[in-house]
Amino acid sequence: MTNTMRAVGLAIALLVGGKSFAADPAAIERGKYLTTIGICSGCHTPTDQSGKRIEAMRFAGGGKAGGLNTPNLTPDPETGLGKWTEDQIVEALRNGKRPDGGPVRPPMGVFFYRALSDSDARAIAAYLLSLPPVSNKVERSASTAPLPTYEPVTHVAEPNRADKLAYGEYIGKTVAHCLQCHTPRVNGLPDLSRAGGGGNSYNAPGGGSVVAANITPGNADGIAKWTDDQLKAVITKGVRPDGSHLVGVMEFDRYAAFTPEDLDMLVGFLRSLKPVAMK
Ligand code: HEC
Ligand code: HEC
Repeated sequence: MTNTMRAVGLAIALLVGGKSFAADPAAIERGKYLTTIGICSGCHTPTDQSGKRIEAMRFAGGGKAGGLNTPNLTPDPETGLGKWTEDQIVEALRNGKRPDGGPVRPPMGVFFYRALSDSDARAIAAYLLSLPPVSNKVERSASTAPLPTYEPVTHVAEPNRADKLAYGEYIGKTVAHCLQCHTPRVNGLPDLSRAGGGGNSYNAPGGGSVVAANITPGNADGIAKWTDDQLKAVITKGVRPDGSHLVGVMEFDRYAAFTPEDLDMLVGFLRSLKPVAMK
């Protein structure tokens, strides 16, 4: 075999194994967008004593979610993802498996991220690996909660942007995982037969608790009576048409990053949800 043949063979092997996006600025930009509307840093960032996120430590882990410590997602080799390949990060996102074989447990949203397309999952991985490394050792939490089991995902095709409803579902359900908070759970996982019906309770930042609302067309006092523009203002500014403000569990500051087209398609998806009659 000549050297050229070997080089071609190697190039093909790399392509088949999954092309690295590390040096692709467009992919990294896409990854940045997806992690913003996917509110990854909402959980993967530590908070100070008043509960405010420490933005200088964005993605550096050490936050709490569902009782588990959130890992450091910056590429620090000792305390973060520095030794992980893009493929290993994709595997953690879509199949909930770490390189050491350990599980990635809920509330990390593998249930929804499983549907990330190959190139979007890889763009997210490339973006995380492009971040400045932050050294922050986070202990992996112990947990005895039963683990969800999933059919392994190896390939997810690109969603078709021309199919507005399907793409709105992809943006809202898969990436922004709106239904993770807004769907009642059975055995710890969302009960999609009541997708968007609401009902989960969260600690409110100022104390007390707040319930994630019903965001299906079955909510006559909410989404059903709001215009598209009003609904968009709730999602991206946290202000309802009556002037009341959401308390801040929902990360509307991150959702403000939705592109206008994606937001349109997201609204179309919410309006297509089966009406659920939950209060
Ligand atoms: C609801 C909070 C939450 C959100 C939102 C979230 N994560 Fe996580 N993530 C976690 C928790 C908690 C763990 C640790 C799970 C465990 O210990 O088993 C985790 C684990 C991970 C891991 C495995 C790292 C390791 O060292 O084991 C990766 C990679 C990851 N998350 C990436 C992401 C990305 C990318 C996003 C956004 C698309 C995201 N996460 C959004 C809570 C969250
Ligand atoms: C981290 C959990 C969480 C996620 C993720 C989330 N929300 Fe929310 N959302 C809430 C909570 C909690 C409330 C109630 C807040 C309040 O009453 O102040 C809420 C309120 C709302 C409301 C107001 C409804 C009403 O009738 O008052 C809408 C609309 C909404 N969310 C849509 C969305 C959409 C669309 C997404 C995805 C882009 C999303 N949410 C993602 C937790 C979440």
